[in-house]
Amino acid sequence: MYQDRVLSGMRPTGAMHLGHYHGVLKNWLTLQHEHPCLFFVADWHALTTHYGTAEVIEQSTWEMLVDWLAAGIDPSQATLFIQSRVPEHAELHLLLSMITPLGWLERIPTYKDQQEKLSDRDLGTYGFLGYPLLQSADILIYRANMVPVGEDQVAHVEFTRELARRFNHIYGKEPGFEEKAESAVKKLGSKKARLYRQLRTGYQERGNAEALAAGRALLEEVQNLSLGDRERLFGYLEGGGKKILVEPQALLTESSRMPGLDGQKMSKSYDNTITLREDPASVERKIRTMPTDPARVRRSDPGDPEKCPVWPLHLVYSDPARRAWVQQGCKSASIGCLECKQPVIEAVLKEQIPIRERAEQYLKDPTLLRDIVMDGCEKARKLAAETMRDVREVVGLAYG
Ligand code: TRP
Ligand code: SF4
Repeated sequence: MYQDRVLSGMRPTGAMHLGHYHGVLKNWLTLQHEHPCLFFVADWHALTTHYGTAEVIEQSTWEMLVDWLAAGIDPSQATLFIQSRVPEHAELHLLLSMITPLGWLERIPTYKDQQEKLSDRDLGTYGFLGYPLLQSADILIYRANMVPVGEDQVAHVEFTRELARRFNHIYGKEPGFEEKAESAVKKLGSKKARLYRQLRTGYQERGNAEALAAGRALLEEVQNLSLGDRERLFGYLEGGGKKILVEPQALLTESSRMPGLDGQKMSKSYDNTITLREDPASVERKIRTMPTDPARVRRSDPGDPEKCPVWPLHLVYSDPARRAWVQQGCKSASIGCLECKQPVIEAVLKEQIPIRERAEQYLKDPTLLRDIVMDGCEKARKLAAETMRDVREVVGLAYG
C-alpha cells in the first residue's frame, strides 16, 4: 500500500572504521540506488546508555555524518538526518508506550544482556527499558518496510512488527469502519468498484492469493483517494481494519568481512581498528606491526595463513593470484611477513583515497554538511508528520 522505504540508524560512536565500511556502509551504498532510503543518527539512543557524557554526542554525530558521506552515501539519493531533530519520534514513542506491555520489553534479549555487559553504568532506567520501543517509533513513523540491521538488532525489528500489529488491531477498527469502507469502494467508480468487490470475495471466501494481489495492485493504481480511504480499502480487502502502521522486515546485514588488527571483530573497544580516514602513516604502522602466525619466529620458519590475522585481510583485498602467492610463500617461507603485508597496506591506502577526498569538502566547509543534514531533517519531518496526523486521529487526539 505504501511505497518501499528503507530506514536505518546508528548510534553516534564517532569516527567510523573499516569494519563499519565493509559491513554496514557498503550495504547502505547498494541500497541507496535501489530504494528510497532514510539514514539517521540515533542520538537519543546514545543517551539511553551514555546519559552522563553529553559533551561527546554532538561531536561524534558530526564526525559520523562526515564519514557516511565520505564513504559515498549520496545525499541526493538518501535522506540523512538526526533523530532528535525530528521530535515526532518522541511523540510516537509516547503514544506507543500506552499500548506496549511491559513484559514484551523485559523479554527482549538485549535488555538483560546489555545491562550485564555495561554493568559499570546504572541501566535500571525507564529510558533504557524503552530502547527498543524508541527504535520501533523510528521505524514506524516512516512506514519503512525494510530495515537493514545486524543480527543483534533483529529482535528489535521483530518486536516492532508485533507492536505495529497490536496498534493496528486496537486502532484500525474505527467506529463505522464497514460503512466508511463501503463508501470508499463507491468512490472507485462503478467498474473498479465491481472488480474490487469480486477480488475481495475471491480472497476472503476462497482464500485466493492471486485475488488479493490483484486487489492490492488495483488500489496501488487508484489516484483520487484520500490516504484514509486507501488505508481502509487495503484493510477491507484483507478483512482486517485499517492498516495504519506498516510491519517492517529486517534486512539482515552480513557481518563485516573485515576483522580487526588482532584477528578479533574490529571494534573501538578492542582498540584494533583502522578508521575510515586514518592517516596513511598510521595505517602503514598499524599493519606492519600486526601480529602474524606465531610459528614464524624467524624469517626462515614456515607459517600457516589460517593462523594469521593478516590472511583475512587478503581475503578482503587480494585477488586469487595474490592469495595463492601468500599461501605458497608463507607455507614455504619464501616470503617474509612484511612482504606479505605490503599489498594489504597498499590496498587500504588506495581504498581510502576517494574517501578522504570526499570528506575534504565537508571538513573545509562545515556549513555544507550542516545544510545537507538540516535539509534531510526537514524531509524526514514532513514524512513523520504525515504518519502522526493519522496516528493522532485514531488514538483520539485530532481536535478538528
Ligand atoms: N539500535 C540500533 C543499533 O544499535 C540503532 C537504531 C536506532 C536503529 N533506531 C533504529 C537501527 C531504527 C535501525 C532502525 O545499531
Ligand atoms: Fe601471515 Fe603472511 Fe606472515 Fe604468513 S607470511 S604469517 S600469512 S603475514
